Amino acid sequence: MSVGALRLKQNDDSDLTLDEIFEGYLKSPKLFQRRDVLDSSFVPKNLPHRTEQIKQLGYILASVLRGAKPSNILCFGKTGTGKTAVSKYVLSMLKEKAPDHGLRVEVAYLNCNNVDTNYRVFADLCSTLGIEVPFTGLATDEVFTRFKQGLDQRESLFIVVLDEIDSLIKKSGNETLYSLTRINSDLSSAKVSIIGISNDLKFKDYLDPRVLSSLSEEELVFKPYEAPEITDILVERAELAFRPNTLDKGVINMIAAIAAQEHGDARRAMDLLRVAAEIAEREHSEVITQSHVKKAQGAIERNTITEVISTLPVQSKFVISSIYQLENVTSDPDAVSTGDVYERYVQLCRDAGMDSLTQRRVGDLINELDALGIISARVVSRGRHGRTKEIHFSIPRSLVESTLQKDKQFDFNRY
Ligand SMILES: Nc1ncnc2c1ncn2[C@@H]1O[C@H](COP(=O)(O)OP(=O)(O)OP(=O)(O)O)[C@@H](O)[C@H]1O
Ligand SMILES: [Mg+2]
Repeated sequence: MSVGALRLKQNDDSDLTLDEIFEGYLKSPKLFQRRDVLDSSFVPKNLPHRTEQIKQLGYILASVLRGAKPSNILCFGKTGTGKTAVSKYVLSMLKEKAPDHGLRVEVAYLNCNNVDTNYRVFADLCSTLGIEVPFTGLATDEVFTRFKQGLDQRESLFIVVLDEIDSLIKKSGNETLYSLTRINSDLSSAKVSIIGISNDLKFKDYLDPRVLSSLSEEELVFKPYEAPEITDILVERAELAFRPNTLDKGVINMIAAIAAQEHGDARRAMDLLRVAAEIAEREHSEVITQSHVKKAQGAIERNTITEVISTLPVQSKFVISSIYQLENVTSDPDAVSTGDVYERYVQLCRDAGMDSLTQRRVGDLINELDALGIISARVVSRGRHGRTKEIHFSIPRSLVESTLQKDKQFDFNRY
């Protein structure tokens, strides 16, 4: 059978061949003018409602243009508040401007979510300087020394952006930051400045006070966006992304309201707009409507839950599976208690040949699942039997099932 003739399940459950899908796509009305504009990596030239932060960063970094080292900076704010976009924008402008003054500014942008060991940080910094370092094998100190030597061979200002810096500290401690904040005393011609970015407002608690004081010479705060601000951001982006007259009235306001309700997250808004447009496109619609936004919201929510569950430790997956099984056998949805869950959990662990945790630890995992919005656990008094918790799923059971079934780390069908 040719691939083109393969019957594929579509979202709307109609059976289409791959060929029909391709043909249908080509015939569908063209909604997008520039698709990349809604990508998370796109850095817009205009950032509404961030003038204040752009100016502040500009003032701090301007000293580069006189050949001086700017203060180190910490940027804080919840997710999707424009920290990465603002930093990248200001730095790209600075890099453009510096050569006019006979200066050289180099920027290393590291996302510490991926670059989260001391070795990797210095290896990545070396590679920005064109020094190749093996992926592993050297002592971290040696990589750091090579970085310093490489730096000192050039007369430039080197700005290190450590985005999601909290990941690095939580995983690898303060060591790298300590070395980086002290590096200037060992350099003769080059200078290093650090910009740290974090959406974990408590991350300063993890910092060694000496590191904190040099890292936070300046601090910039990014507040969550309000609905009208998100509307302005979306209007500008939509104008670039879509062809004229493809957005139904009210779509942008609806997305802005949803995103502001959660916590003023512009990324969430952008994702909703992109997914709504993709759904409209798949439905061969000539305009993106509020109903596409609703569908997009459902799709994104499902994806988020799936992602949250799949990244949980395996013990938590056993707890989820226990609740799922107990709900299967009870006719009373209020009957699942912490005690029942623990009993079933121990059984599952035994069947899987895995050590089980104490009841207290499992209680903590249950609380964690509650905080994540996967289950809801309500304390109830059972008279002389004392207090217990009634547990329900806060998400559809079908979603629990499909997520755990797909999980490679966990053999759902076996339990
Ligand atoms: N003021 C703005 N104008 C235009 N687009 C914006 C603005 N603020 C944020 N965005 C867009 O919203 C998305 C999220 O922004 P960004 O990545 O900068 O958030 P962040 O604060 O770094 O979030 P996180 O902490 O999750 O990394 C990006 O697509 C970005 O281009
Ligand atoms: Mg970011």
